[in-house]
Amino acid sequence: MSHPLLFPFLFIFFSSLNIPRTFAANSISTNHPLSGNQTIISQGGNFVLGFFQPGNKSNHNYYIGIWFKKVSQLTQVWVANRETPISDPTSSELRISDDGNLVLLNQFKKQVWSTNLTSIASNSTTAVILDSGNLVLRDDSDPSKVFWQSFDHPTDTWLPGSKLGMNKVTGERQHLTSWKNSDDPAPGIFSLEIDPNGSSQYFILWKGTRQYWSSGYWNGHLFTAIPEMTSNYIYNFEYFSNATENYFTYSPIDENMISRLVMDVSGQVKELTWLDGSQQWMLFWSEPKQQCDVYSLCGPFGSCTEKSLPFCSCVKGFSEASPSNWNLGDQSQGCVRNTPLQCSTKTSGRGDKDKFFIMPGMRLPVNNHSVAVAGSEDCELACLNNCSCTAYSYSNGCTVWYGDLLNLQQQPDGSAGETLYLRLAASELPNSKSRKRRFVGVGVGVAVGVLALFAIAFILISVHQRRRMIATTKAMENNLVLFKYGDLQRITKNFSEKLGGGAFGSVFKGLLPDSTVIAAKKLEGLHQGEKQFRTEVSTIGKIQHVNLVRLRGFCSEGTKRLLVYDYMPNGSLDTKLFRSNSMVLDWKTRYQIALGAARGLAYLHEKCRECIIHCDIKPENILLDASFVPKLADFGLAKLVGRDFSRVLTTMRGTRGYLAPEWIFGLPITSKADVYSYGMMLLEIISGRRNAEQSEEGKKTFFPVLAVNKVTEGDVLSLLDHKLNGDADLEELDRVCKVACWCIQDNEFHRPSMGQVVQILECAIEVNMPPIPRSLYALAENSEGLVFYSDLSSGQSFQINVNQN
Ligand SMILES: *[C@@H]1O[C@H](CO)[C@@H](O)[C@H](O)[C@H]1NC(C)=O
Ligand SMILES: *[C@@H]1O[C@H](CO)[C@@H](O)[C@H](O)[C@H]1NC(C)=O
Ligand SMILES: *[C@@H]1O[C@H](CO)[C@@H](O)[C@H](O)[C@H]1NC(C)=O
Ligand SMILES: *[C@@H]1O[C@H](CO)[C@@H](O)[C@H](O)[C@H]1NC(C)=O
Ligand SMILES: *[C@@H]1O[C@H](CO)[C@@H](O)[C@H](O)[C@H]1NC(C)=O
Ligand SMILES: *[C@@H]1O[C@H](CO)[C@@H](O)[C@H](O)[C@H]1NC(C)=O
Ligand SMILES: *[C@@H]1O[C@H](CO)[C@@H](O)[C@H](O)[C@H]1NC(C)=O
Ligand SMILES: *[C@@H]1O[C@H](CO)[C@@H](O)[C@H](O)[C@H]1NC(C)=O
Repeated sequence: MSHPLLFPFLFIFFSSLNIPRTFAANSISTNHPLSGNQTIISQGGNFVLGFFQPGNKSNHNYYIGIWFKKVSQLTQVWVANRETPISDPTSSELRISDDGNLVLLNQFKKQVWSTNLTSIASNSTTAVILDSGNLVLRDDSDPSKVFWQSFDHPTDTWLPGSKLGMNKVTGERQHLTSWKNSDDPAPGIFSLEIDPNGSSQYFILWKGTRQYWSSGYWNGHLFTAIPEMTSNYIYNFEYFSNATENYFTYSPIDENMISRLVMDVSGQVKELTWLDGSQQWMLFWSEPKQQCDVYSLCGPFGSCTEKSLPFCSCVKGFSEASPSNWNLGDQSQGCVRNTPLQCSTKTSGRGDKDKFFIMPGMRLPVNNHSVAVAGSEDCELACLNNCSCTAYSYSNGCTVWYGDLLNLQQQPDGSAGETLYLRLAASELPNSKSRKRRFVGVGVGVAVGVLALFAIAFILISVHQRRRMIATTKAMENNLVLFKYGDLQRITKNFSEKLGGGAFGSVFKGLLPDSTVIAAKKLEGLHQGEKQFRTEVSTIGKIQHVNLVRLRGFCSEGTKRLLVYDYMPNGSLDTKLFRSNSMVLDWKTRYQIALGAARGLAYLHEKCRECIIHCDIKPENILLDASFVPKLADFGLAKLVGRDFSRVLTTMRGTRGYLAPEWIFGLPITSKADVYSYGMMLLEIISGRRNAEQSEEGKKTFFPVLAVNKVTEGDVLSLLDHKLNGDADLEELDRVCKVACWCIQDNEFHRPSMGQVVQILECAIEVNMPPIPRSLYALAENSEGLVFYSDLSSGQSFQINVNQN
């Protein structure tokens, strides 16, 4: 140990001798180890190496890691001792050992991590952190002699400039392995690696065995299954392959951009870029797109749902096996049974037999077994008779499951999917037959009395409540009613009539005491405080326009947040456009809907005190009143939900087709993002079908590609919904088609403003022939991917000939 006073002196002494190489702040050398809160920083100041504590520092685990220097949120890109944390960094050290290896010694001077090289010829090795984020162990006298580098041993992050591939001779591969949870860098269960067969595709594996995602082969420009990953605009990907090795490298086109690709705890691989302006990581893309496509994400007896956050929940009768890990994003241990099954408790013949809980609309678990029995009752019996049977399903045959149920999913729209019968102890299902029977005897007499009491109470309560509601109305500004949760429960008959669901939560129909019909939206995933919530709601309440759904009131009790809107008897536009059994909207109505929606949006963008970006324009959010006047729903909610919004958006099924390229590229979002979504929606109003689901003679086409081509050829009539039999005003159709193509331009500066769209649709200004968006060229080759190749830097400017009449 050096004397505390001697050390600074020595340092000055050596500095003055001008031999800083071995003492440079970017390296560790034989007589210059690292410990405590010391760090080394790469020459250009991009990366730091040192001890760190992950997560919220509740445990006393320290690790050696590399993180970004210029990013304000501590973000590690590499960890040395993933599985062997140390507890006291001040007495531990990272040093060059006598044999030339880089080693980590804990407070007892025991080696807990090493670069593990067997023969290093030189005795002057140095560990240097480079500006690429690579930690290199090399010969100080000959820096080209690299013995070991962290780029060859990635943890969960793939940095630009490093290779991710395999050595075909030794079979050695670089894996990205997720952290165990957000607080623990130990290897988790998800990994990304190149095809071990040596082809040019990546796989994501669960526990190193089960592959649940593939990138598709590299075609020289892009991975066939994820064309958005390899835009020639943001990143350059390069593939190298010869007889000894194959790998990819990538680099951002803008060298100043800070980006990383991680195998996330969520089982998704994510590309993120750092936004200096907002000081946060923006998600550029993630795969698999659907969170529930991650194999067994929620563990045994956990069920995944795309509909709401959090994605995982335990099925009925089960609880989280490890609530702490669960909350840190690691649900791999899944859920455990609350009450043991009768069968396994072996308490003689007494007691209720196990029962089955009905779970409709499920994606069935994996590892099924089929049983040859006829009829669902025999299938139930077949399961009951085997103690290890945990569930069965009966549709065209009997299928049973033994042991853990893995990969369960609640389907987004309950009608799809199958019914699973989950075996539970009888006591978990209280309204089973035997229970009911017990109550019958006592029941009748009591019931009459109770009913009478309820009737009186109900009359009293409703009179009282009607009064109170009037009182609160007066008390609030903007005529917003403050509802009690209990009132809303009653008004909506305990949320029994669901009108729909969306990114923010489900909507239920209700009836006010004065017979007004309302729609109550139960908000999900809100994290802000009561006061902020009220402020935002009151702002939304002030926004009133004939083409916006009117907010009547709200409820805010603890975590329960609801918004109460006017009810729209004709439902949402998607049900009128896409449902085969619904009435066909004629052209005139469609044009009025297009114009009304544009006016509502223009009002939000231009007429409110603060510009409001809707962020989620799609037919589901256009509601129709009794006379088919369109009203935008869900405006202002993006701000309410705040940061989580981009996550919600990118994980919601169906929303992707309407997302502007800015969302996907992580660029700042302006009102032009709404213009893009509006354009996509216009095309659906024209064709009466979903853009992504259009098929011509069985061949899938992405409708916007067809649309821009037909518009260019001047053949707009072929785009019109066949159900209209050509019955449309051709001039109007041409106008709508052109404006839609302008709205979906890649470059937001080429898109018109909503105000201009209104003017075009009102025939106040003329519209030129639109250019074909570049993204659609790429899409023409890959019609399934709803992705965008944008060239935001060049191209024609947006033109509208103003022709005031
Ligand atoms: C580093 O640790 C020492 C004691 O170990 C402490 O005195 C010093 O303030 C720390 N420096 C920083 C920047 O935290
Ligand atoms: C930090 O961890 C402790 C213990 O695990 C937990 O109680 C606490 O809520 C965590 N805090 C945050 C901000 O996550
Ligand atoms: C180094 O080798 C030891 C013993 O062979 C092994 O236990 C350890 O995991 C290796 N460490 C690394 C980082 O490969
Ligand atoms: C290693 O260091 C010793 C002195 O510590 C020196 O004599 C020897 O030449 C060095 N070997 C090499 C290969 O540099
Ligand atoms: C690798 O190739 C072999 C033989 O060509 C094939 O059987 C196997 O399925 C392939 N594995 C993968 C993961 O593609
Ligand atoms: C493959 O490429 C690597 C790196 O360029 C090179 O070292 C190796 O010798 C090549 N192998 C063959 C068989 O050409
Ligand atoms: C049972 O598993 C097989 C193969 O994994 C699958 O093809 C089949 O659809 C499954 N059956 C049910 C009812 O889930
Ligand atoms: C119950 O199922 C397990 C798993 O298939 C099987 O091994 C066992 O023999 C079955 N028991 C009976 C009594 O059928």
